[in-house]
Amino acid sequence: MAEIVLGFGTSHGPLLATPPEQWDLRANVDRKNPELVFGAGTYDFQQLYELRKGDHFEKENAIEVRRERDARCQKELDELGRRIIAAKPDAMLIVGDDHHEWFMNDIQPAFSIFHGKQVFNRSLTEEEKRDAISQGNGYAIQIYYPPKDEIYPCPTDLAAHIVKGCVSDNFDITALGEQPSDKGALRQLGHSHGFVYRRILNSHPIPLIPVAVNTYYPPNQPSPRRCFEFGRAMARAIRSWPGKERVVVAGSGGVTHFVIDEAMDWRLLNAMKSGDYETLCNEPDIHFRSGTSEIKNWIVLAGMMSETGLKMDLLDYVPCYRSEAGTGSGMAFATWQ
Ligand SMILES: [Fe+2]
Repeated sequence: MAEIVLGFGTSHGPLLATPPEQWDLRANVDRKNPELVFGAGTYDFQQLYELRKGDHFEKENAIEVRRERDARCQKELDELGRRIIAAKPDAMLIVGDDHHEWFMNDIQPAFSIFHGKQVFNRSLTEEEKRDAISQGNGYAIQIYYPPKDEIYPCPTDLAAHIVKGCVSDNFDITALGEQPSDKGALRQLGHSHGFVYRRILNSHPIPLIPVAVNTYYPPNQPSPRRCFEFGRAMARAIRSWPGKERVVVAGSGGVTHFVIDEAMDWRLLNAMKSGDYETLCNEPDIHFRSGTSEIKNWIVLAGMMSETGLKMDLLDYVPCYRSEAGTGSGMAFATWQ
């Protein structure tokens, strides 16, 4: 049977490529955002500041603090790359969320698995680059997209087997046999997947099975419990494959952002570490909105890990604040070995 030899979780936000001196580019986007979500509430920037000013995030946002936190993140991203290569994987299954990359408003699958022959991570068009820069993400282009198109092979038979295994486990998976395109032009590989190849693996082309969960877009986001069970079903399918592949699996995204909620991050990371899956599955769904919803990719990962004997090693949790209202990105990096 195929073996899951390593699991890992990683944040993938744009701050990870942005010099700490320039984090205000993204803070300025926060200042204009009328829908900053925190817990069960939704606020504009001034309302959020009033709510949280007692926490004095201006101290957390000092340049020396930003630099120290950025250095911790870069160190652990490099460490993740070393651990993945050391695991000698034949295939890598990455669970991410789609931000209108492969899926648009016309169709948004709750769970999808790609089983085609190869995946293109193409370079951005000039228009796409301009869009990224206008969102304060100009520095981040390099950690998701290559300067020249890259191709990652897909272990198509194993991927199709995982689809079938999930279907027989009562998950009606959306199966992709080809990369979505518009009039022959390929849609861009999701940032959740591209980040792992571009930033963590320096474009090392480990065969990829891209999995997408709709964490972001109403009305069909799956619940935390459904995400956990989906992970269990995928792990069972991998282990029922008769081949001898060594498989690395990952959850990409999160943790809380664009408003950092350290209490929620620690609650869920501690639950993953201790195997307290009821706490994970019972976190109220309303807490998983905006970027914070990407923690569901980690919950799918936790479901996969619950089917193995692998233990979580939390490399670091780094709250990267970028404004006095407590906006920024909670960053977490972990492996299960
Ligand atoms: Fe993301």
